[in-house]
Amino acid sequence: MTPEYQKETLAIHAGQKPDEKTGARAEPIYMTTAYVFKDAKEAAGRFDLSVPGNIYTRLTNPNNTSYETRMAAVEGGTAAISTSSGMAAISTVILALTNPGDEIVSADNLYGGTFEFFNLTLPNFGRTARFVPSNDLKALKNAINEKTRAVYFESIGNPKLDIPDFEEIAKIAHEAGVPFIVDNTIGIGLVRPLEHGADLVVISATKYANGHGTALAGVIVENGKFPWDNGKFPKFTEPDPAYKGLVHYPTFGVSTVSMSIRISLMRDLGATLSPFNAWLTSIGLETLYLRVGRHAENALVIARHLASHEKVAWVNYPGLMGHPSEKNRDKYFGGSGGPILTFGVKGGFDAAVTVQNNVQLISLLANIGDAKTLIIHPASTTHQQLSEEERISTGVTPDTIRLSVGLENPLDIIADLDHALSLI
Ligand SMILES: Cc1ncc(COP(=O)(O)O)c(C=O)c1O
Repeated sequence: MTPEYQKETLAIHAGQKPDEKTGARAEPIYMTTAYVFKDAKEAAGRFDLSVPGNIYTRLTNPNNTSYETRMAAVEGGTAAISTSSGMAAISTVILALTNPGDEIVSADNLYGGTFEFFNLTLPNFGRTARFVPSNDLKALKNAINEKTRAVYFESIGNPKLDIPDFEEIAKIAHEAGVPFIVDNTIGIGLVRPLEHGADLVVISATKYANGHGTALAGVIVENGKFPWDNGKFPKFTEPDPAYKGLVHYPTFGVSTVSMSIRISLMRDLGATLSPFNAWLTSIGLETLYLRVGRHAENALVIARHLASHEKVAWVNYPGLMGHPSEKNRDKYFGGSGGPILTFGVKGGFDAAVTVQNNVQLISLLANIGDAKTLIIHPASTTHQQLSEEERISTGVTPDTIRLSVGLENPLDIIADLDHALSLI
């Protein structure tokens, strides 16, 4: 695969060519746990990493390798490691970069699961997250200290739907000698954070990368530029006793994070992606650019319709004129407002419940990034476990309804919403 191809071509071809043995154009599925060694010498060589090749699917599998190659190409990175889910990608990357006593600084407008991981679970591992308002760069600067090991943002806050100023945040992180991590779950196909200063991208490929709601998957992609030998990341620069004193950064170079995670945290924690899910997601990626464009077109049509609807109190869609993220949308997303919108109905919580109970085409469920349009009430579901104050900071009010706009004809989505709204 030559890297000169455009991103739309890479999404279809990167990581996969016709099968040499059978001629199969589509990728065969390698549902195997382990791989035969030619002899004892090759077996020993694979284990001490001197002979490249597969050992066991917890570490590598051909389907996972092609998925990782394709994801790295789509995000414009140098290397990637697949994970069993988006949360596995997030937890694994944070554990890889930090030691007990370390901190991260994160935007406060996160997906509820990530917020709870940072807020409640991470302290059990001896690490702390400091939250700052997603639009307050001064607060970000002030929250970074000697213990900080990463700065974390989402490319579009879920469900606040604000877009950060990647380049300014990257500057602040880099001045402090720490990497900038972006969750690009919702922005995939619309923005490449690694081209705007991010050092690592984490993605729940369960959503738009897959595109059809068929499989959990995650990935960590790196850009190979961060200087891991600045004294803050001993895991990458001190001898690893598990591999006869191997030092990860000089050995793995632009693949340091991916390889270090593969040979240590994947070995130890085993948050490995199923090869079948890797295969499904690789196929999903082939239509990524078609889908994200259409998702955004449909979302804009629906946002405009809802904005003038008599039963609707407010609409939050980054594609609308005058949206608070307008500048960053135009700078980083080429003007696209993305695939998700939120709105509030007059009548608050009860009216929101009526809408959810009366949609027919639209599915009431906790997911985003399906070809089908999905609806949810975050305050009573995805963000239920947060305090009132935390909910507000993540952009969730009692009347917020989130719509993951699908690929249906938008007229049908509008008719379904209108019918449900008429019953308030
Ligand atoms: C922005 C974002 N990041 C991460 C996740 C977690 O991904 P997964 O469900 O694949 O673990 C989600 C899930 O909704 C999400 O919306």
